[in-house]
Amino acid sequence: MAASVFRTKTVEQSVRETKEPGHRLRRDLSALDLVVFGVGVIIGTGIFVLTGRVAREYAGPAVAISFAIAGLVCALAALCYAEFASTVPVAGSAYTFSYATLGELPAWIIGWDLILEMALAAAVVAVGWSGYFASLLSTIGLDLPPDLAGETAGFNIPAMLIVLVVTAVLVAGIKISSRINAIMVTIKVAVVLLVIIAGAFSIKLANYKPFIPPAVTTETVEGVRAPLIQVLFGVTPVAFGWFGVFGAVAIVFFAFIGFDIVATTAEEARRPQRDLPIGILGSLALCTLLYVLVSLVIVGMQHYSDLSEAAPLADAFRAVGQPFFAGLISVGAIFGLTTVVLILLLGQSRVFFAMSRDGLLPEWLSHVHPRFGTPARSTIFMGVVVAVLAGLIPLSALAELVNIGTLFAFVVVSASVMVLRRTRPDLPRSFRTPLVPLVPILSILACFFVMLNLPAETWIRFVVWMLVGAVIYFAYGRRHSRLARSTASNGASVI
Ligand code: ALA
Repeated sequence: MAASVFRTKTVEQSVRETKEPGHRLRRDLSALDLVVFGVGVIIGTGIFVLTGRVAREYAGPAVAISFAIAGLVCALAALCYAEFASTVPVAGSAYTFSYATLGELPAWIIGWDLILEMALAAAVVAVGWSGYFASLLSTIGLDLPPDLAGETAGFNIPAMLIVLVVTAVLVAGIKISSRINAIMVTIKVAVVLLVIIAGAFSIKLANYKPFIPPAVTTETVEGVRAPLIQVLFGVTPVAFGWFGVFGAVAIVFFAFIGFDIVATTAEEARRPQRDLPIGILGSLALCTLLYVLVSLVIVGMQHYSDLSEAAPLADAFRAVGQPFFAGLISVGAIFGLTTVVLILLLGQSRVFFAMSRDGLLPEWLSHVHPRFGTPARSTIFMGVVVAVLAGLIPLSALAELVNIGTLFAFVVVSASVMVLRRTRPDLPRSFRTPLVPLVPILSILACFFVMLNLPAETWIRFVVWMLVGAVIYFAYGRRHSRLARSTASNGASVI
């Protein structure tokens, strides 16, 4: 039994299966497409919405430092992702990597975890999208009832619709998706540059003093809402100061989620070995630079204590008497958030596809549409699930679950790099993580530290989700997995 749940799938077998008729994805994406994909999914709610809350409550002007630290943590994990993606260019990202190294049960756990990350993140961002959409409609005199759009909606129709529209685009083909995506990403990056350049003229140096506001103890976070590190070690909750800067890292981390999703498109890249590392590292570096600059400009335009929580970028321009720019930024945010939903759903359906192709989920989901060349069934299935989630559940608190899920995947990928170096030193690696094992170990420690800064209740929800996943694996996946069946047909026991 212990042996069966740790059975691994060879890298060669994974690559061979990508060529099977009926399960083959179309190889259409260039390195530039991948960087655009990365930027498309990374820049979203994190910078457009969270910057304000984090500066006000945790870090002050030093939110820029928090962004830089979060970028650094992600860079360590990205170096590990890049090695894997260039060695095992198969759809499914961290899921596939761990199947090749740690075994079937860890792979299932990570795939289940990625489903949590991407489905929930797509729903969270769709809810954010509906808020911006409602606010744009209201500027032209059309007010949606608060019960139908935005954070507090009981039945969020715009959020559901955007998810369903994006799902239809994804079914129609990855090339079409990447074209629509490219246009929207261009608009989004243009708006971010506008914030940096136009905003720079309204910076008041006085707003930067003090850059790291002195630490104050806060009593606002108690019980299960308190960060785990505080529950475990009895640390008094602190806002601002260096502790505040680190606490902020756990939240702004959401802004970086997405570079890992570039790796899920590995089977659709034309030259995955060369282009995936470029896509992963390139998009991460670009976004980190933009985030640090945007946050520096925003806290320079307005005192951090005056920043708005819902739309800090647009509202900073309103505050300095430039409502026209504020309107432009809102439009950019709508496009920007659309691309985030698009790519999260894309990555999600690819992980689902890879898991069902391996038989860990029902295999009919891995069917590729004969005309469109996309995994239509898994895309539609997950699209409907996410639409329902986005429509019915108020998800803002669950965003932290997305962070913990992603950080956990980063830990597993970093560990897997070290394992694969030992078990398969012979594999051609066109990109090698530098300074192994130092970089993977630092990556694991850094991600774990950020995880400890998340609320205790997030940890509880995460553990529950994982237990549900374990039950499904033992009830279904363990017997139906392709690997199990091939072992059984060779005469070995799978029980
Ligand atoms: N990084 C993405 C965002 O900020 C998920 O919305």
